[in-house]
Amino acid sequence: MNNEQLENIKVELLDDIKNAKSLKDLVGIKVNAFGKSGSISSLSKGMRDLSPEDRPKFGAMINELKTIIEETLKSKEIELENAELKAKLEHEQIDITEPSKGIEVGALHPIADVIDRLTDICVDMGFSVVEGPEIESDYYNFEAMNIPKNHPSRDMQDTFFITDEILLRSQTSAVQAREMEVRKPPFKIICPGKTYRNDSDATHSPVFHQLEGLVVDENISMADLKSMLTILMRRLYGDDTKIRFRPSFFPFTEPSIEVDVSCPSCHGKGCNVCKGTGMLELLGAGVVNPKVLEMSGIDSKKYRGFAFGFGLDRTAMILDGINNIRNLYRNDIRFLEQMK
Ligand code: DAH
Repeated sequence: MNNEQLENIKVELLDDIKNAKSLKDLVGIKVNAFGKSGSISSLSKGMRDLSPEDRPKFGAMINELKTIIEETLKSKEIELENAELKAKLEHEQIDITEPSKGIEVGALHPIADVIDRLTDICVDMGFSVVEGPEIESDYYNFEAMNIPKNHPSRDMQDTFFITDEILLRSQTSAVQAREMEVRKPPFKIICPGKTYRNDSDATHSPVFHQLEGLVVDENISMADLKSMLTILMRRLYGDDTKIRFRPSFFPFTEPSIEVDVSCPSCHGKGCNVCKGTGMLELLGAGVVNPKVLEMSGIDSKKYRGFAFGFGLDRTAMILDGINNIRNLYRNDIRFLEQMK
């Protein structure tokens, strides 16, 4: 090993670095210099054959060479990195004058929208929102609502039974008993959710939605129910909405009423939405039958309740001018786009 050899290796490596075209080339050069059998590594190995006097001198020279090569490699690496980045950026240039594709704006499904609206109004009035199971027991869906087995009033709801005791809930009223069992009066709850009946035509779907309301407190009466529903309807359909209460029958309320509102599309004059009657039937309601309170462990001498049940599909159809309930369940994007 001599000076000349060392100088040759240096010139060769510096030349290679200078001519490198890519970071990959540099990796190759590093291996050629510092790899196991690389040129600089071989120089170090060659020290063995030198005389003890020559070793320190050559050692220092090799170290100096290493430093020079390493530094040159480093600055070339930075240079190549910058060049590669620049080339990439030039290639990916964005034309900011090109027209954009536009942002697609979605919309809430009419049912989700009506649940949101009614929930907001009820929460303002102090109601808590609860949920109940869609697969329900015969007890909560019927018996605890004062609809015994084999009673003719079951016929009002053509039900999907899974077994004799388990069914798809036919009314959100099922959550009333569940909540009465676990809550201490006074309380106010609403429960929006899916319900199921064996019914299917332009205004009935086997899956539909209801929103149940229940208030239990001392000294409450039909008058509170009427005023509360009047406020609720006017907030939903507008201040000029007329409300009509008609006597009705539900096994779980006594007395029971049905509630109609003036048609929001013709304001009571009569049109095809209200089939010329000027009014639309929207919900059932009433004062909770004391038997129902007692069955769920609430003292009916001390407490009274009132309850209401909205059909949400109908409410949404009226609000959005939808004439066939099936549109709500088809997930046709053209229909949903109109809800924006
Ligand atoms: N569950 C009844 C139905 O599906 C609606 C209803 C009527 C609910 C009166 C109530 C109520 O809470 O008090 O037809």
